Amino acid sequence: MSFSYPILPGGHLLAIEGLEAPHIAALLDLAESYALLNRQGKTQRDLLRGRTLINLFFEDSTRTRTSFEIAGKRLGADVINMSVSNSSVNKGETLLDTASTLNAMNTDLLVVRHGQSGAPALLAQKVSAAVINAGDGTHEHPTQALLDALTIRRHKGDLRNLVVAICGDISHSRVARSNIHLLSAMGAEVRLVAPPTLLPAEVGRLGVSVFHDMRKGLAGADVVMMLRLQRERMAAGGLVPSAREFFRFYGLDAEKLSFAKPDSIVMHPGPMNRGIEIDSAIADHPTRSVIGEQVEMGVALRMAVLDVLARGLRRNG
Ligand code: NCD
Repeated sequence: MSFSYPILPGGHLLAIEGLEAPHIAALLDLAESYALLNRQGKTQRDLLRGRTLINLFFEDSTRTRTSFEIAGKRLGADVINMSVSNSSVNKGETLLDTASTLNAMNTDLLVVRHGQSGAPALLAQKVSAAVINAGDGTHEHPTQALLDALTIRRHKGDLRNLVVAICGDISHSRVARSNIHLLSAMGAEVRLVAPPTLLPAEVGRLGVSVFHDMRKGLAGADVVMMLRLQRERMAAGGLVPSAREFFRFYGLDAEKLSFAKPDSIVMHPGPMNRGIEIDSAIADHPTRSVIGEQVEMGVALRMAVLDVLARGLRRNG
């Protein structure tokens, strides 16, 4: 496969907003080639040899952190995981002090997850490493949207004109925001399906259509993307009456899914609340659910991102 290396603004991957369709497509093409290599059990240990990748996680993560770790190791990088619980951030070190420490250690690639929107962008101004946003507050989670797009492309071909319904807790979801930007840039039709309390205030400016009824929102959809109800980001009292009530109106089950196209696929970034936003029978459905494949594509996509960013690093070796 031939591809041109995409340009990432500033040599970082901080957001999907601002990326152009040809660059997104080039990243996905490169990721596709890594997906094929991964399936053949081939690694490329030379590409990042001598490079240091630090996973700096101020919030919990299982799949995102592990898949960056696997991606870095498959490309030959030295990977170090720093989580807040065992770093000096707990002892009061500021984000900027952390940045100078990372600079002193000659970090090449820095993967950051932080509870505050904009924290990775702030770090990117202060560190010499290439920074990848692994999820910041309710802002963006660019690699998740890219791996979602890669998964969709493998099933549906072109993203253009596909109908994608993103359902559930939109207001707290950085995954939704990155997906809205990416899918819109690639010419898909994006629908948001959620109760009014779980929609962001700026929804009118996002260029998407909004539904409060699952059956209407899912009608004719090619892709049904479910989101986790993020109760940890809701102030006490919550924005939904109860989990049971939420499932009844917004939980994806076979009946509601029957309104989407018969060959539609079901996605979820994980971690899932089974029985709240998605019925287990749908999450584990052998043909409709691509949730496992999303995790597999996460590794390939992150290899592609590390590859592109490492090529742009000034310091060699
Ligand atoms: C998402 C996240 O952390 O933003 N998870 C993930 O990266 N796989 C979504 C979520 O937490 O619900």
